[in-house]
Amino acid sequence: MVLLSIKMKNIQRYNQIYQKSIDVTWSNTELPDKVVKYLNYIKNNSENYNQLQVLDVGCGRGRLIKQLTKDGWKDITGIEIAAAAVSDLPPKIRSKIIVGDFLKQKFISRFDVVVDITMTCSSEPENGKPIFSKIFSLLNQNGYYLGEFFTEPVNYNELDQTWCLDQRNFRRILKKQFEIVFFETDPKIQGSVFFCAQKK
Ligand SMILES: C[S@@+](CC[C@H](N)C(=O)[O-])C[C@H]1O[C@@H](n2cnc3c(N)ncnc32)[C@H](O)[C@@H]1O
Repeated sequence: MVLLSIKMKNIQRYNQIYQKSIDVTWSNTELPDKVVKYLNYIKNNSENYNQLQVLDVGCGRGRLIKQLTKDGWKDITGIEIAAAAVSDLPPKIRSKIIVGDFLKQKFISRFDVVVDITMTCSSEPENGKPIFSKIFSLLNQNGYYLGEFFTEPVNYNELDQTWCLDQRNFRRILKKQFEIVFFETDPKIQGSVFFCAQKK
């Protein structure tokens, strides 16, 4: 059964996760403090934060989008591969979300902020580099890339398979194209690294 779920395509796996409410471990929790800190940092360092274009990759049930909307950010787009994640969302939030595969989606605009809260670690390992390159190419110069990745496997359920990144390796790759602003752990969330970097 475990092998079956690993072989299952991400789109099917995540639709099942959301249909069975296995996502409560992230969807029903507060946004990580570090992510909130990074967004406040960007807010405080921008003349007009509410005009910044934000993309949330693998946005799930939209917990970040809901928070940003509440905080006055105006231009937010989410992309989520699993339609089941967004089916019950209020229209105001649902209208900001594209249902599709981030790697296949064509975007017309570029973004000032791309947020990736564990999406890369939820996608098959061979997608890591293409996801990273796409995020880089979608960012405007001086744009911010921020988020969370796992350094240890986090598998609460057989369907919920995740992959980890080597933090030294990730930092090295990040440094080539970004100025690292924050790169840190949180004692409350073991096995995760949080980062915020600015495109050079
Ligand atoms: C662990 S969840 C985190 C959800 C959300 N970022 C949050 O913090 O609430 C990872 C999400 O990435 C989505 N995902 C995985 N691969 C994707 C892809 N190629 N394109 C879009 N979304 C994807 C999954 O469906 C899932 O909703």
